[in-house]
Amino acid sequence: MCGIVGFVGAEQAAPILLDGLRRLEYRGYDSAGIAVCGGGELQIKKSRGRLAILSELTHDGTDLSGTLGIGHTRWATHGAPNDVNAHPHLSRSGRIAVVHNGIIENYAELKEQLLNKGYTFRSETDTEVVAQLLDYYYDGCGDFFEAVTCLLNALEGAYALGIVCADYPDRLYAARKDAPLLLGYGEGASYLASDVTALIRYTRDIVYMDDGELAILSDRGVRIYDRQMRPIEKEHHHIDWEIDAAEKGGYAHFMLKEIMEQPRAVREATAARIQGGRVVLSDLTMTPEQIRAIGKIYIVACGSSYHVGMVGKYNLERMLRRTVEVCLASEFRYSDPIVGEGDLVIVISQSGETLDTMAALREAKKRGARILSIVNVVGSSIARESDDVLYTWAGPEIAVATTKAYSTQMAVLNLLGVYFGDIMGTVDYETYTDMVRGILALPEQMERVLEQGAAIHELAKRCAHHEDVFFIGRNLDYALSLEGSLKLKEISYIHSEAYASGELKHGTISLVEDGTLVIALATYGPLFDKAMSNVEEVQARGAQVLALTTGDRADAMAEQVDMVLSVPETEPMLLPQLGVVPLQMFAYYIALERGCDIDKPRNLAKSVTVE
Ligand code: F6R
Repeated sequence: MCGIVGFVGAEQAAPILLDGLRRLEYRGYDSAGIAVCGGGELQIKKSRGRLAILSELTHDGTDLSGTLGIGHTRWATHGAPNDVNAHPHLSRSGRIAVVHNGIIENYAELKEQLLNKGYTFRSETDTEVVAQLLDYYYDGCGDFFEAVTCLLNALEGAYALGIVCADYPDRLYAARKDAPLLLGYGEGASYLASDVTALIRYTRDIVYMDDGELAILSDRGVRIYDRQMRPIEKEHHHIDWEIDAAEKGGYAHFMLKEIMEQPRAVREATAARIQGGRVVLSDLTMTPEQIRAIGKIYIVACGSSYHVGMVGKYNLERMLRRTVEVCLASEFRYSDPIVGEGDLVIVISQSGETLDTMAALREAKKRGARILSIVNVVGSSIARESDDVLYTWAGPEIAVATTKAYSTQMAVLNLLGVYFGDIMGTVDYETYTDMVRGILALPEQMERVLEQGAAIHELAKRCAHHEDVFFIGRNLDYALSLEGSLKLKEISYIHSEAYASGELKHGTISLVEDGTLVIALATYGPLFDKAMSNVEEVQARGAQVLALTTGDRADAMAEQVDMVLSVPETEPMLLPQLGVVPLQMFAYYIALERGCDIDKPRNLAKSVTVE
């Protein structure tokens, strides 16, 4: 989704802005632009397409002289991705430039009012309305701070704003509502960004803005104001991950690097939370009494995080012996959910900024439920608004398609299940110890799966020509198939669907014909025979079958199907943790064979901060 950077200090702004934008490229965008203030004038350059075009256009930023500026990568919402709609947008006076993430919901109404006052518009964007409205207020009152205040009162919807006015060439303005924005503190410099990866090279001293806040940045520091425009002090956060974590480190793609990082990531997410064979969640503030008193349990998330929730439903129901509802956040928020005091809503999000997930969290909270979030990005909005947070500690995830965040979310959810089950008295000693032992063994087992990379690449070469794929599975394998299918389709653009095997004959099997590729997931031992029957069912219709099973069943499976992948045996509830790895690699190599832009698939964004 769109990215914002801002800089004010002693150095030339443009190269810093371009570098910051480069680090936000992974979020997905279709155009980019920068505005720099120098010599009392604003200079703007923007263009459709990759940042490399903007860099070339500005000779790596050297064409724009000035020590203050804002930059933006745009992911089109209002108006086509082209040069005109790219940000920054200028006011009619040419003295104000604005970059914006989010959606201004009342922009049409505001635009109408401005048209009636004689304003004209160059672009189709809601952001240009922001620039012109600010111009209108500034024209009226002559005080820029007051004009910004009036602007914020008039806007409805979601925004992270970066604003420059040529009449105040020593300061940047920033405002936030329902879209991430953070402030960076440097030596004689201040920074603004929508994502910490843009700033890590310059500063590790960060403040996260909250909704309704306005900040004024200068080379002397940052002043922050609350909703009532009273100056406030905010907590500073130190970012401690290394800059290398956001670099490819010799891998061809971030996705491959992040797939390979999973053993370490899962180890970090779990090892410190297991002490002497016991699960210790010291970051959880819930007391045993509160845990025992939990009413209904919901898991709410989007995309792959929702798929983790699907695995979680099977595992938590098994360990807690109670119903767990797993809901898509975008549906939950508008469903008048039956949730209230005493209920627990587990919110899962890598970015901690997904707008639908955030809205679902707020809905549940408003109704009195307790919120426990499983989040990767420290200090993100979802983390800050939750009653409890279990961080996944996966480090920065840059590839749009999630891999290590998925694995660590699942690892944390499994730990939570064991921990709750023990307190609730629903997990017996044997399951507890099997789960703990299994979780501790996962990193080493994942490493063994990763060693199959070359073989998986060969299978991918054989399968890369398919245009329709079906993933099938039962129980945990069904939950896993959802993720396997999403991974494949989002980066390779192959049409792929995931089905609960038992559902096939209720309609979908009519699509299976000679040569259709079916990926049959059969890792879950108790239902292996049923999985085999489903394999035979699709083979009878001519399907080519690639099966995923456990090592001890691989030979039996190989006699039946065209291609086999296997994972080591473990406690059944942990099988999706291992099973997802070959599916991620399969998707990766298929996309590689098809020449796709793996880290930045078309139309997708890393952090979905619009509805
Ligand atoms: C797919 C993927 C997305 C995200 C979804 C939720 O590979 O990454 O489906 O899982 O957009 O994002 P978060 O977890 O940041 O809330």
